[in-house]
Amino acid sequence: MKSYKIAVMPGDGTGPEVIAEAVKVLDAAAGKFGFQLEKTPFDYGGERYLRTGEVLPENAIAELSKNDAILLGAIGHVDVKPGVLEKGILLKARFELDQYINLRPIRLYPGVDTPLKGKGPEEIDYVVIRENVGGLYTGMGGNSMIGTEHEVAVQSMVYTRHQVERCLRYAFDYARKFGKKARGKGEHNTLALIGKTNVLTHVFGLWDRAFNEIGEKDYPDVKREYYHVDATCLYMVQCPEMFDILVTSNMFGDIITDLGAVTQGGLGIAAGGNINPNGLSMFEPIGGTAPSWTGKNAINPLAAICSGAMMLQHLGESEAATAIEEAVKATTPKMKSMIANEMGFTTTQVGDMVAEIVAR
Ligand code: IPM
Ligand code: MN
Repeated sequence: MKSYKIAVMPGDGTGPEVIAEAVKVLDAAAGKFGFQLEKTPFDYGGERYLRTGEVLPENAIAELSKNDAILLGAIGHVDVKPGVLEKGILLKARFELDQYINLRPIRLYPGVDTPLKGKGPEEIDYVVIRENVGGLYTGMGGNSMIGTEHEVAVQSMVYTRHQVERCLRYAFDYARKFGKKARGKGEHNTLALIGKTNVLTHVFGLWDRAFNEIGEKDYPDVKREYYHVDATCLYMVQCPEMFDILVTSNMFGDIITDLGAVTQGGLGIAAGGNINPNGLSMFEPIGGTAPSWTGKNAINPLAAICSGAMMLQHLGESEAATAIEEAVKATTPKMKSMIANEMGFTTTQVGDMVAEIVAR
């Protein structure tokens, strides 16, 4: 029987509660589709940091690397200064494991409320591919003359042709495989580059040249579009149906995927994957730790469950991944809301419902 080694990192806040439900559903899928998940728990997070003073032990990346994938809950603790755990664990894993793609589907499931008037699952159905290790996130820059009125601060948006090219190639491949034409929803598979070529001419000039060169040469079958990031925010609200697959820089991707998440019903349902196409990938709900709901059995586990489905898709178990997604689509119409404590069910009940449908 096929077996996969999974590093399970529940993390902080409601992370452990949503990961427990994701694992429940993943186990149901494994049983149904005939593969095994060999899970190793990792306690990295705020509690451990407060106990040991160590954000990540020295061997953490090596230990994680013994696995086929990582399932992450959420990182962040109310008693730890903002940034310490995010940089020390989440960003460290992304960088050290070279997870240069952040895959974030923006998909409205049946029966889920969206703040977008007149839009439904037909209209809100696209994917953002965010470059995940470069740009403004490299930490390059610095301050001087702190404490004086002449303080200087620089934070550089850094991209190399290599970084841009590998991200774009992933995005073109993804569009070819999972674009609207491939899914029987449109005439073309379309990849749109989201940038700011009218102002940030250096960095997005590079993105734009690489996008058109690679597209013309190697992906003539994928339709190319370009939008400025500010206009993209407007279209995401006004006419999300125009989008198929989007590719963008790290910072822009961070910002627009929170906007996307709210249009798909909120962070309770928004899933993501930090992907190294040739290495170890890490799947996480994008919602965070939700400290006020910790331990109340009230948080929505669907984002974590959908991240689990993305993990199976990535591992090559696409039938099982589709089964989970279908089970989620059968569950959302029964729920009152995607918001914590307003679902009409507890966290465990939602997990049970999805697991039961998957196992059927
Ligand atoms: C995300 C988060 C992280 C990011 C934070 C927690 C460092 O906002 O995954 O979108 O900025 O990438
Ligand atoms: Mn973010």
